[in-house]
Amino acid sequence: MSKYDQLEGTLRASPKSWLVTGAAGFIGSNLVENLLKLDQRVVGFDNFSTGYVKNLQEVQQIVGPKRWANFKLIENDTRDAAACQSACAGIDYVLHQAALGSVPRSITDPIASHESNVTGFINMLVAARDQKAKRLVYASSSAIYGDHPGLPKVEDKIGNLLSPYAATKLINEVYAGTFATAYEFKSIGLRYFNVFGPRQDPDGAYAAVIPKWIAALIKQEPVAINGDGETSRDFCFVDNVVQANLLAATAANPEAVNQAYNIALGERTTLNELFELLQTTLRRLDPKLPHQKPKYQDFRAGDVRHSLADISKARTLLGYDPKCRIADGIDIALDWYLKNVV
Ligand SMILES: NC(=O)c1ccc[n+]([C@@H]2O[C@H](COP(=O)([O-])OP(=O)(O)OC[C@H]3O[C@@H](n4cnc5c(N)ncnc54)[C@H](O)[C@@H]3O)[C@@H](O)[C@H]2O)c1
Repeated sequence: MSKYDQLEGTLRASPKSWLVTGAAGFIGSNLVENLLKLDQRVVGFDNFSTGYVKNLQEVQQIVGPKRWANFKLIENDTRDAAACQSACAGIDYVLHQAALGSVPRSITDPIASHESNVTGFINMLVAARDQKAKRLVYASSSAIYGDHPGLPKVEDKIGNLLSPYAATKLINEVYAGTFATAYEFKSIGLRYFNVFGPRQDPDGAYAAVIPKWIAALIKQEPVAINGDGETSRDFCFVDNVVQANLLAATAANPEAVNQAYNIALGERTTLNELFELLQTTLRRLDPKLPHQKPKYQDFRAGDVRHSLADISKARTLLGYDPKCRIADGIDIALDWYLKNVV
């Protein structure tokens, strides 16, 4: 039995109180869904800046009325310190996901990213400390590897940062470390690498590549690849990220705490391979969709060429074991987008 299977049993037997910030977003709503399925008590916190009510409505439908009764939503902003304090009251574990994602967004508006990602973060950290939460697990990012050429990425080797977004995430890690030494407050940072899955937003200028391409293929619109398509990423299905959050929140080993971990699959997929996989799987699910050829355009400024995580630290210290491979995750995601993209 895996460590995560054991943890699911322990949590079911002895439910805890969880605060999920960014609960109406992609990763947050998947955390809420999985926690409620484990009969946990969950408080969701979101300002709906990039999240949607419909994400939470879908969770409500999936988990049913009995489990939904264990959920409470706070519509507020992490930039409001008092709101963070009341959200953390009586909470065992904080899973802090609320932030403005997207590297290009932060390049356009670094102050907005700083306010939500840094001021919002320290507000939540102070609140979790004051309200005596057992731990705060927070979303960091692979963006903090910047221009470091090493592959695979290992946690202690980071380069020059390439965007304000990356800076906000690194500042989160610095504050988390400082709160460990100054106040003995326990936290764990999870550096996510290109997460994908149901409820990831396919719309808008800052959409991630997988939902953007899936939506274009379904709507029979052209798909553009930045560069020659040999750029690669470590795409990680959202269920693996949920697993990492729950393991991090509850890890008993003192060495595992006050650390940052790569959370990914640990495999590299090129954009050309991704396009092929999406197109083939989609046409299997809906044979009426036409075969498309992608349009190649210029490389995007600031994009790193290759990204691949070494996940051995999370495997060793957290018992992280990403069960969902990319093709299985794509099947689940495509099924969802076929039902939801209009
Ligand atoms: N999706 C990825 O591939 C990826 C990769 C690396 C890191 N991350 C990080 O994971 C976290 C979740 O990302 P996601 O992909 O689910 O994005 P998302 O945009 O779907 O979710 C973020 C949620 O946070 C909320 N939010 C933003 N600012 C807020 C504020 N000031 N107060 C309250 N709520 C606020 C938004 O409304 C949204 O619901 C973010 O911290 C992001 O930086 C994501």
